[in-house]
Order: sequence, then C-alpha cells, then structure tokens
Amino acid sequence: MSKSTLRRIELTVGSADEAGGDLLVLALPRGVTELPAAIAPLFPAPADPVRVLLGSGDFRGELAEVHLAYGGSGPCARTLLVGMGEPAKWNAERLRATVAAAARRAQELAVGSLVLPLPLASGEPLSSQVETAAEALFLGTYRFDAPRAPETTPKEEVSLELARIVVPEDVSASTLQAALERGRLRAAATNLARDLGHTPANLMTPTILAERAARIAADQELGLTVLGPDEAAHLGMGAFLGVTQGSVEPPRMIFLHYTCPDPAAPTVALVGKGITFDTGGISLKPGAKMDEMKYDMCGAAAVLGAMSVVRALGVPVHVVAAVAAAENMPSGSAVKPGDVLTSYSGKTIEVLNTDAEGRLVLADALAYVVGNHAPAAVLDFATLTGAIIIALGHYGAGVFSNDDALWQRLETAGSTSGDRVWRLPIWEEMGKHLESPFADLRNIADGGAGGGAIAAAAFLREFVGETPWAHVDIAGTAWWEKDRPHLPKGASGFGVRLALDFLARFRD
Ligand code: BES
Ligand code: ZN
Ligand code: ZN
Repeated sequence: MSKSTLRRIELTVGSADEAGGDLLVLALPRGVTELPAAIAPLFPAPADPVRVLLGSGDFRGELAEVHLAYGGSGPCARTLLVGMGEPAKWNAERLRATVAAAARRAQELAVGSLVLPLPLASGEPLSSQVETAAEALFLGTYRFDAPRAPETTPKEEVSLELARIVVPEDVSASTLQAALERGRLRAAATNLARDLGHTPANLMTPTILAERAARIAADQELGLTVLGPDEAAHLGMGAFLGVTQGSVEPPRMIFLHYTCPDPAAPTVALVGKGITFDTGGISLKPGAKMDEMKYDMCGAAAVLGAMSVVRALGVPVHVVAAVAAAENMPSGSAVKPGDVLTSYSGKTIEVLNTDAEGRLVLADALAYVVGNHAPAAVLDFATLTGAIIIALGHYGAGVFSNDDALWQRLETAGSTSGDRVWRLPIWEEMGKHLESPFADLRNIADGGAGGGAIAAAAFLREFVGETPWAHVDIAGTAWWEKDRPHLPKGASGFGVRLALDFLARFRD
C-alpha cells in the first residue's frame, strides 16, 4: 500500500458552515483583497483574522501559496488561504496544485481533518473538479515509507485522517461519489508506481517486481504470465537475455492481461522498461549519482500502476501489459561491446554500448506483444535516455510515434492527466546511423548523429512493424529532486494517469 498519510475523503452536501473540521481551505485567485460575496457570510466578524489577512495584502494568491489564519468567526479553528494563481490560466493541473498545496500544509500541521469547499471556479463541471481534487489530495500527501528499524521509525503522528469535500446541494451525490472514487483510484495507482520507484534495487529485483505484478493480477483478476530465463531463451529473446547475463538476479518478462467485458473491444498494449538497476554494464556509468539508476524501472512501474486499476476504472479496451525486468551489471559473464545478440524478432543487434540496454529489453517485449497479440496500438514507457533530459528537461516527457492519430490521442491524455508530453521526430536519416557491418542493427547510432533520444526511438521502431506505436521517454519526468505540490520529490509516478486517460478515451 502506498503511504499517503491522508486516510479518507468524505463528501458532504451543504454548506461549509456546518461541515465541521480542523482546518477550512479557502482557495482564492491572485489579486483578491476582500472576501468574495459567496464566502463572506462564513466570516461574519468585520475584524475576522481572515479579513485582516486579506486586507493586509500579504496573501497574493499566487498558485499554491498558503497562509494560515487562526481563530475568528469562521467555521473551523484554522483557515488556510491557498492561492489559485491567475484566473485566466486556471485549469485542471492548477486545481491539482492548489488542492495538493493545501493538503500538504494540513499534513505538516498534523491536523486531523480539512474541509475543502468545491467548486473552486466556474467552468469545469463539478464532478471533474471532485475527481481532480480527490486525486490531488492523495497525490500531494504521498510519502514513501522507507525501511527503518522499529526504534527509528517515526511514532504514528496525529496524521491527516480526513478530507471533507463540501459541495452545494443541487448536485447528484452518487455521480460525485463515483467521481471521488475515480480520483482516489488514479492517485492510488500513481502512488503504487512511486513506491515501486523509490524502493532500492536490492529490494526491487526482477523477481520482486514479478511478485508485485502477481499481487496486482490477483487483486484485479488479470491474467498473468511470468517468463524466467529458460522460457525467455526458449522463445528466443536474445536481446533481453543479453542485458541480464552479467547479473546474478534472474530476469523476468512479465505479462498481465485485462479482458474487458465487451468482447469486441480492441486490444491496447502497454510495455514498460523494468531495469531494476542500471550500472551501465561493461560500459560502466560514472559513480556520481549512480544510485538514481534504481529508478530505471519507472516505465515498468507506470505500466503496473495503470494495470492496478484498469478493472476498477472499467477501461473500455482489452489491455495486454509487458514488463521487461532485468538488472544491468558488469561481470565476467556480462555482454561486451561488439557482442552480437539475436532478438526475438530475428533481427541481430551489435551491442556497441552496454549502457544502451533499455532499448534491448524493449525490442523483445515490443516484438513479442506485436507478434502475439495484434494490438490496435502499443505504448511503451521507458527511462530510456539522458538525452531526453537535455532536450526537454523535467517538466514533460518526449513522445515518438509512427502514427499521427495515436500521437494526438496521447497529447489529449497528456493535457487531461497533467502528465505533459511533447512530440519529437524520428528522422528517417537516423536509420542509416543504426546500420552495422556485423549485424542487422547497432544499439547506438554511429558517430556524429547526435539526437540520442531520437536514435533510441529509431531503434525501437524497428521492432513494432506497422502497428501504431508511441514511445514515451520518461527519463526526465519519472523522478526529480524538486518538490512540487502534487508531485513530492523523488519518483513521480509519471505515465500512470497518462496511460489511464489514454485507455479511457481510446474508443471515443
Ligand atoms: N537508464 C539510462 C537513461 C537515463 C539516464 C535515465 C539518466 C535517467 C537518467 C539508459 O539506459 C542509458 O544509460 N542511456 C544512455 C544511452 C547511450 C549509451 C547511447 C544515455 O542516455 O546516456
Ligand atoms: Zn543504461
Ligand atoms: Zn537504463
């Protein structure tokens, strides 16, 4: 279970006045210096601390800015003013930031409950605001439960037990309850991916990742197939096995199947890079920050996170998920520069850099799902290249696709989910740079091509044939040391909500 310290959300129909709770969240846009008419009656006293605070101008209403006021004539002992930023820029992602900032402040204060009146602004339907707010409450209060000795484990603090969302009377409570549940599920799936990402590599081996997948399969009644090294060898997954041959940890190729109730539904495949630790292999990485390579399974985490709620959310497609889990180590048995591997597709690959291992494991996973499941579309998620961080930084993932319509669906899912994506090209000329005199392909482009993230995508494209496919390079977005309101520092769970929104609208 993920370690969000918020325990539950309740929906109350009526007025914030009667809701009851330790802290009232008052979200206000930039530039407000007086209480808006709809809220003013909640603070009848003319010298109420909230009115004084607003009048002072100290609260500017910048996005996710928080100010606390105590006592006064409001319904709760504390009122937390939280900024919504510029009204013209208001959107679902800003709603997430606003609500999460408030929840995190409440969590720091260790109050038992907060009261959040919705809607925060007109425009978006109330049910989507409830869904997004629920998502943000659980995302923002996420904390990784690090393994610690019992005596160093922090005592169970008074934690944020309850968030009460208050809505006006004129709405259908059952619709809103369903929206709340969707938000909760989406956040739980994201937090699951975050947990997998944060867990150190010795405690998140391919075997353990497969066990986690099995737990998800049991919980969601999904089909499960796990291939070990012998089965993978039998199938001819030589690229996948080449990566793992230097490690004492046996690899796992993990498949999960969700069959949706409509037999006529199309199948979508999700593929994840699950390198549980990437030393670079014989092409060893530098020592500094090498610990971060425990996050090299965040593509796998995104896929498993999404699969953990596909049935509960009732996505309208069949889903086949493939997770290629392996550890990339240098050793006497490791693959060497110049070695040639035969992939599942039959294509041979000259390994010129053993640190370009993600594309090798993905080559076999992609060729397998394309060849055996005839999916209508394939998405892969991978912390594939450092080059994507140079190109796009940490605020959005790079997408490469052989299909314009598929890209467009992904772009839509990016803007609804907040998992921002940006398309990059796969230049035809890059193909030339992947030619080898010793095999069908080389795993890195030859000298001077540049565009490392593009080269990686051009390599992957060789293994999907004509199937509509998109590759999401999440090396920059899967984790970051910077804290953001609904994205606490560390593993972000990027890709989970992107995949879920993509699946939910696939038949629209
Ligand atoms: N796992 C890395 C990519 C990566 C780098 C993820 C930084 C997150 C942060 C990947 O396996 C890798 O090492 N890629 C190489 C490819 C190169 C050898 C062509 C890279 O990006 O340097
Ligand atoms: Zn690598
Ligand atoms: Zn890697």
